[in-house]
Amino acid sequence: MDGIQAGKKAAAVEAVNNHISDNQVIGIGSGTTVVSAVERIAQRVKDENLKLVCIPTSFQAKQLIVDNNLVLGTLEQYPQLDVAIDGADEVDKNLVCIKGGGGCLTQEKIVANCAKTLIIIADSRKNVEMLGTNWKQGIPLEVVDIAYRPVQLQVTQLLGGSAELRMGKSKMGPCVTDNGNFIIDWVFDKNGNWHEINTKLKMIPGVVETGLFVNMAKKAYFGQPDGSVLAREAKQ
Ligand code: 5RP
Repeated sequence: MDGIQAGKKAAAVEAVNNHISDNQVIGIGSGTTVVSAVERIAQRVKDENLKLVCIPTSFQAKQLIVDNNLVLGTLEQYPQLDVAIDGADEVDKNLVCIKGGGGCLTQEKIVANCAKTLIIIADSRKNVEMLGTNWKQGIPLEVVDIAYRPVQLQVTQLLGGSAELRMGKSKMGPCVTDNGNFIIDWVFDKNGNWHEINTKLKMIPGVVETGLFVNMAKKAYFGQPDGSVLAREAKQ
């Protein structure tokens, strides 16, 4: 296992050990780090006979829940969650996160918003003072397909930077989300008030959701290559 993978696993195990207990409804995030969290949850369910319901944030998360024989639930059944555990592309000093590198930002934000506590798990590269330090792909915006061009123009006119339509891999044309929308990656050229920027982005017609998670994460666990874990909590 390389250092990055060791960090992801260490963060995931620590978060599951500290935040998961019996009779909870849990949001399951998306991405590669979450795989280790789900495996640890499944192990604890087996060892401790925990009664848990898992709410997915993507098709990938749903498959992970099913493949690990965990109980799958929906937001219709469980609109209030105890905790959500999810990865991030970058996390700044105030626990503002960029999410959506895997294109699942909208369902991730809906589920996180329904949870009492959002816990972020990531490797040490994601732990930064300012957004954009290591993550150069920008902030993902999920957009309604017909609006992609106007949104690209309006985002750059309003906030500068550049806005690229995300293209599919092993598929011609754009990447299509689990909700049937497109993704624009907005590469910003400076940090600012992320709450205000997020509001401006969301006000553009055609923008379904942004990958900016402001004042949402309560705690973030960053796994180091040596398997140790650094934790940071949101300021009250
Ligand atoms: C997917 C996400 C992921 O949580 C984020 O991209 C981090 O992924 P990984 O754990 O693979 O680094 O937001 O939309």
